[in-house]
Amino acid sequence: MTATDLRIDRNRLIRRLDELGAIGAIEGTIGCARLALTDEDRAGRDLVATWMADLGLEISIDGIGNAVATMPGFDPSLAPVMTGSHIDTVATGGRYDGNLGVLAGLEVIETVIAAGVALDRPLAVGWFTDEEGARFPPDMLGSLVYVGGMPLEAALEIEDRDGLSVGDELERIGYRGAAPTPGRVPHAFVELHIEQGPVLEDEGITIGVVEGVQGISWTEVTLTGQSCHAGTTPMRLRHDPGVVAADVNLFVRGLTTEFGGSQVATVGALTLHPNLVNVVPSTAVMTVDLRNTDDGVLQQAETRFRSHLAQAADAEGVGIETRVLARFEPVDFDARVIDVVEAAATDAGLTTRRMPSGAGHDAQMFARVCPTAMIFTPSVNGISHNVTEYTEPDDLEAGANVLLDVMLRLAETDFA
Ligand code: GLV
Ligand code: MN
Ligand code: MN
Repeated sequence: MTATDLRIDRNRLIRRLDELGAIGAIEGTIGCARLALTDEDRAGRDLVATWMADLGLEISIDGIGNAVATMPGFDPSLAPVMTGSHIDTVATGGRYDGNLGVLAGLEVIETVIAAGVALDRPLAVGWFTDEEGARFPPDMLGSLVYVGGMPLEAALEIEDRDGLSVGDELERIGYRGAAPTPGRVPHAFVELHIEQGPVLEDEGITIGVVEGVQGISWTEVTLTGQSCHAGTTPMRLRHDPGVVAADVNLFVRGLTTEFGGSQVATVGALTLHPNLVNVVPSTAVMTVDLRNTDDGVLQQAETRFRSHLAQAADAEGVGIETRVLARFEPVDFDARVIDVVEAAATDAGLTTRRMPSGAGHDAQMFARVCPTAMIFTPSVNGISHNVTEYTEPDDLEAGANVLLDVMLRLAETDFA
């Protein structure tokens, strides 16, 4: 059997996706909730670590709780071809986002070991802590630390909304490891992920050849006004932070119409205090997520948003505090790895399309240190970050087989 005849075991991959998806399962749905560093995240990690150990892989866990499992028996000077993704989810998550990339990586390695393929260098699969950033911003925190984009000490101090820190929560769940960060630079990195959008399904295409990731800007805004009686306080005397939040939400939506192109804007979290029917709120805390493939346009969107915020808050007599939760520039993947992904998919007789990623991914961090690209599979109805997230078994299998072929080809590619 030649390496290119190899195929992953579709049933084993799906079984593992189901088993991992059962941890933190949201009753009555196929979705799950495993926010980073919760008990559910720990249980998911324990399960995947068991599978890694069962394969005899060398597992290293670093100070931010990333785990990298590498095929043993190679000269230590040979950097691995690495794949991986994340196993944390948003609180209303699906079972494919991130999980597919980790479990397909495991599946590739199991397939290669079972077939006894001789490799020039080892393969490795990792999970990276807190990719979602939903509990501890920024997103891609673990991979950011892995590549040296944030000092470990700074990452450990990040707190969630209840004041619990990354460091304390890592200790609590037993995943503050000893491996150093920045971590070992891979020979190359490739990540399989569901598209999380509608383009592939809409065009009837099986494999997205991902050329890059759009820029991401997350801001948390705290607006402080005057809480008072909803019935007695004349409108002209109010300082209502809820009204400013609503105004800003509509403004950023309007920006997307004005800018067009890939500009997107989302107010995904909005909390009013005290959040009662007959009380003008005292505070509004909101998040603004702006993204664009063009950093210049993204910067314009940020400037316009901030100046409108200042103006709207001033008009209502409301105070503002802002905090940048995440800011990542757009990333271009490596042309050589992109070509390898496209060639592997095309040689397998699969339809392909080059495309940018709208979502953030661990691969965008690895692109800072080694040749990197991504493979997308379709998402049914384009839905993700939602419990109905689903990808057809045929597409999961096709994506994992492309990952297998790409990793084998990358092992033979000299990037010097
Ligand atoms: C991370 O998944 C993001 O794109 O928000
Ligand atoms: Mn993801
Ligand atoms: Mn996600």
